[in-house]
Amino acid sequence: MNKLVIEGGVKLNGEVSISGFKNAALPIITASLLAADKSVIENIPLIKDVYILKNIIETLGGKVHLSDDGVMTIDATNVENKTAPYELAKQLRASYYLAGVALGRFKGGSIVYPGGCDIGARPIDLHIKGFEALGADVKIDHGIIKCNGEGLKGTNIYLDFASVGATINIMLAAVLAKGNTIIENAAKEPHIVDTANFLNSMGANIRGAGTDLIKISGVEKLHGCTYSIIPDMIEAGTYMVAAAATGGDVLVKDVIPKHLEAVIAKLREMGVEVREYDNSVRVRVTRNLKNVNIKTLTYPGLATDLQQPMAVLLSTIKGTSMVTETVFEARFKYVDELKRMGANIKVDGKTAVIKGIDKLSGAKISATDLRAGAAFVIAGLIAEGTTEIDNIQHIYRGYVSMETKMKNLGAKIVRI
Ligand code: UD1
Repeated sequence: MNKLVIEGGVKLNGEVSISGFKNAALPIITASLLAADKSVIENIPLIKDVYILKNIIETLGGKVHLSDDGVMTIDATNVENKTAPYELAKQLRASYYLAGVALGRFKGGSIVYPGGCDIGARPIDLHIKGFEALGADVKIDHGIIKCNGEGLKGTNIYLDFASVGATINIMLAAVLAKGNTIIENAAKEPHIVDTANFLNSMGANIRGAGTDLIKISGVEKLHGCTYSIIPDMIEAGTYMVAAAATGGDVLVKDVIPKHLEAVIAKLREMGVEVREYDNSVRVRVTRNLKNVNIKTLTYPGLATDLQQPMAVLLSTIKGTSMVTETVFEARFKYVDELKRMGANIKVDGKTAVIKGIDKLSGAKISATDLRAGAAFVIAGLIAEGTTEIDNIQHIYRGYVSMETKMKNLGAKIVRI
């Protein structure tokens, strides 16, 4: 199995270009199956989750070509209403979007219960509640979710929690339903807006994406289109935190700075210098950083996906910092691995209390999930000595060529 070996102590310096957003690419690629037509999607991140989804679409009868520069051509004309293979679908949280597509295009279908990172219970009751409100009959049987959706009709749906996955899945099912659907307390993340823009380019009629009230007027039919995915705000945030943690000076390029407001605000509160340009941000450390408290929230709050990298950054800042996780129930599993590197962190329910120490020390650790894996790379960069990270397949599910991008910033990192 592959490992990343990191020699700590180097300040990151230089420029890094950010890839297309994983959490937008996965629903958008899946949404292209709503039309029996061809779509061209640009700025696709070349990550494992995308390759798995490509395989899934091919098993359903779609023709997919992915070029080395991230242009995916999907011909969904001959896609059949089949259940995606368990071995592929279980690896991917986003495979749940196949349910929305099956309801929209085929008026029903079956998917296997989705997989993804182990960060606590990840129910999909809100997706199902939304489908049922639209008139679908949904049953879960032996790990298969069966949706029957003849005659779906627009309706008002209130989400108890502003779930990203449920908001997108309901949009996928509602765009081809009869009449008007309103999603209240919808998630507002930039990938909701990107998916809605893609669907509108296919001929859908969605208004209000990016606010907590999304209005969808059902249309008869969708068509293929050409579209470009937005930059990955989580990848950008990860490199910004890595620059700050190593005391470096990094220009993070090809981003939408507006999507990074929460992480920029927190870094500034710590004393990091952050300059915003049109399509890039520069992160530079010129003085000692100070401890802060952070709380993860839905957008525009600080993304839960940046909680683990932030915790690593705070682990060597003098003073006590509190990290409160409000989105997922068990997103502190990585803390035990960080303790092996000397971190002083105590978890009490939804809060981690971090007492900053002078230095982490290199150790052998194991990536517990995607974002924890990225956080451990940052931990290795700031630790004294050598850090060996295994289970790195998690990292490559979501980060394009992380070791190459880090190496270009001066990191001493090799994949063996
Ligand atoms: C997506 C992202 C993930 C990110 C998360 C929050 C993808 C593939 N994954 O995950 O990277 O960390 O958004 O920004 O895009 N919930 C329910 N019932 C539901 C659905 C969700 O209770 O039916 C709860 C979850 O348990 C969790 C919270 O809502 O506590 C947030 O989940 P959600 O926003 O749906 O995240 P995911 O779609 O799983």
